[in-house]
Formats: sequence, structure tokens, C-alpha cells
Amino acid sequence: MTDTSKIRIALDGPSGAGKSTIAKAVAAKLGLVYVDTGALYRSVGLYAIENGIDADDTDAIIASLDKIDIKMTYENGTQKVYLNGSDVGNRIRTPEASKYASVVSKIPRVREFLLGLQRERAEEGGVIMDGRDIGTSIIPDAELKVFMTASAEARAKRRFLELEEKGMPQPYDEVLRDIEARDKSDRERETAPCKPAPDAVQFVNDDYGIEESADYIISLIENL
Ligand code: DC
Repeated sequence: MTDTSKIRIALDGPSGAGKSTIAKAVAAKLGLVYVDTGALYRSVGLYAIENGIDADDTDAIIASLDKIDIKMTYENGTQKVYLNGSDVGNRIRTPEASKYASVVSKIPRVREFLLGLQRERAEEGGVIMDGRDIGTSIIPDAELKVFMTASAEARAKRRFLELEEKGMPQPYDEVLRDIEARDKSDRERETAPCKPAPDAVQFVNDDYGIEESADYIISLIENL
């Protein structure tokens, strides 16, 4: 079995493939730290929202970086992100924060701004990092790179059921259209498009549950 204390695992893929849930399960089973890099983009977006910056105002978003201090901490194995000293908590999980995160993540200066923080965390090792460009840009020499996805239909079905469970139902066709639009934008953007690293293991998990997906990733780690 590989020594996991210094291991760096890059887990990339589109929204809705279950990356965060599965990464958390792997982290819990192997005693790794789960690093949610999307939370960093969401926090930059949150600053813009809370300071009345328009999503279209790229210059103002870039200028705002001078006023932003982001820190990541791990408390009882759970990541917390502090934006200028204040825990962002669930404020980064609103639909508006998702929209702003998607907008700010396309700005090269924002990606540069968040690079050091992510690399520093990766260097400590013992991590599974979930994002879009972890294997291609943040830790191209990661011990294991997994590009995890599922068909748009499978992801739409999961999302549809999740929204229904949360009491916020949305027609399936609409959910599917949203996912397809977001995929296209993520794939085709110029900066850090969501693409597998050439040496990533590609894992399509349409027919896998959470436990099975986590076990599959653990088997990849054990076979390193
Ligand atoms: O994974 P998430 O939904 O929390 O990500 C929020 C947004 O940030 C999403 O639009 C993709 C983007 N993102 C990115 O560009 N690079 C990352 N490493 C993580 C997230």
C-alpha cells in the first residue's frame, strides 16, 4: 500500500459528477485532507456580490483582488475559507454565488491570484484536491490524477432528484439544459478549460454509486 501521508491526488471533472462527495469519502477512508478549490473561486465571487460589483465588470473584479485576503483552514478535517477574516460558510453556496464563481473563474488574473494558495496546500501533501485544472495546472506532477465525469443525462438525473429532495423541484429538461450549457462554457473557455490531463485516469461513473466510486479511486491509490 502506498504511503498516503505525502500523496497528492488531483480530482478534476465537470460540475455534478459527484467530485466533492466522492473526494470527501476517499479522504475520510484514507485520512487525507479534502481540498475544495471551487470554494476559493466562490469566495472571490462572494466578495463581488457583497460589494455590489457587477458580474460583467471584469475590471472591477480584477481591482477587487487587491482588497481580498483568502485563507483556508482545516478544522476537524473540514475545510473553512475565510474571506477578509470572515468565515464564508454557506454564503458561497447560493445560486448567485455559483453564477459569480463561474464568471470570476474565467478571468486569468483571478486564477493567478488563487494559484499560490492552492500550490502551497498541495505541497504539504496528504491531499485530495477537487477542481477543474488541478491535474493540468495546479499539480501537474500529482501522484494520481483522476478525471471524473458522468454523462450529462446521468448528472441531470442526480441533480433533478437532489432538487426535488431539497423541496426546490425543477423540470428535468431544464436541469439537463443548464448542465449542457455549463459544460460547454467550462470546456470551451480559454483559461484553464475543464479537460483531462494527458496522463489522467478517466473515470465515467454513470453506473457507480458514491461508495463504489470512492472504492474505485482507493483501488487506484492502492495500485500506485
Ligand atoms: O466546483 P464548484 O462548483 O464549487 O466550482 C465553482 C466554480 O469555480 C465553477 O464554475 C468552476 C470553477 N472552478 C474552476 O474554474 N477551477 C477550479 N479548480 C474549481 C472551480
